[in-house]
Amino acid sequence: MTNFDGKVALVTGGGAGIGRATALAFSRYGAKVVVADVVPEAGEETVHLIAEAGGDAVFVKCDVSSEEEVESMINKAVETYGRLDCAANNAGISGERQRTIDCTIENWEMVNGINLKGVWLCMKYEIPQMLKQGIGAIVNTSSMCGLVGAGTPPYVGSKHGVIGLTKSAALEVAGEGVRVNAVCPGVIRTAMVDAALKSAPDAMSQLAATTPMGRFGEPEELANVIVWLCSDEASYVTGVYLPVDGGYVAQ
Ligand code: NAI
Repeated sequence: MTNFDGKVALVTGGGAGIGRATALAFSRYGAKVVVADVVPEAGEETVHLIAEAGGDAVFVKCDVSSEEEVESMINKAVETYGRLDCAANNAGISGERQRTIDCTIENWEMVNGINLKGVWLCMKYEIPQMLKQGIGAIVNTSSMCGLVGAGTPPYVGSKHGVIGLTKSAALEVAGEGVRVNAVCPGVIRTAMVDAALKSAPDAMSQLAATTPMGRFGEPEELANVIVWLCSDEASYVTGVYLPVDGGYVAQ
C-alpha cells in the first residue's frame, strides 16, 4: 500500500478498539497521527503505543458531539503537524438497548449526538482544511446497522444517517480533491462487543453463528480497510459505504 510518509491522519475515538487499531495502522504506514478521544487516558495510551513503535502521534481531548471541541481539535491538528490529509471519523457509542416504543429522548440524543452529529461536525471542520490543501480523504464509521434494521433504533438511525452524510459530502467535494467514504463494520471484537457479549450472550452467539464467515472480526481488519480507503490506491473511490462484516449483509 502507498506510503503515508509526510501525511497527517486524524482518528476520533482513537483510544480503543477500531480507532486504536486504525491509529496504529496509519502510523505503521508512515503517517503522523492525531489521536482524539473523550477519555484522555485511553487516547494517551494509544499515543504511547505509537511512540513505542517508533511513530509520531499527538493526543487531543475531544468530545465529537461538541462543535467547540471539534473545531479546536482540527485547529490543534493543523497547528501541530501543519496539515490534515486523512480523517477517520470513528468515535461512536451503542447506547442503551431499547426498542422504538421504549426509547428515551436521553438515549436518542446521546447516541445521535455522538454517532451522527459528531460525524457531521468533524467533516464540517476537516473539509475546509482539505479543500485549502486541494487533497484529503475522509472515512466515516457507519455499521452493518447502517444497512439493515437489526439493532436499537437510535443506533440504527444514526448509522443509516452516517451513510447519507457520507454520500452528500462526497458529492459536494468530488471535484475538489477530497474523497469521502464510509465503512460498515460487522461485529468486531472490541470493548463494545465484549459488553454486548455480557449483556446479551444468546443474541451475540446467534449473531456469530449467522455470520457467513462464522466468526466476529478483529479491529485490525477494519483498520486495514480504513487506511486503504485513505490511500492513493483508492484514488477513484468516493461516496461508497463498504461492508466489512464477514459477509453478513450479503445474505
Ligand atoms: P470502542 O467502545 O471500543 O471505542 C470507542 C472509542 O470512542 C473509545 O475510546 C471512546 O472513549 C471513544 N468515544 C466515545 N464517545 C466519544 C465522543 N463523544 N467523542 C470522542 N470519542 C468518543 O468502540 P469500537 O467498537 O471500536 O467502535 C468504533 C466505531 O465502530 C463506532 O462508531 C461503532 O459504532 C462502530 N462499530 C463498531 C462495531 C463493533 O462490532 N465493534 C460494529 C459496527 C460499528
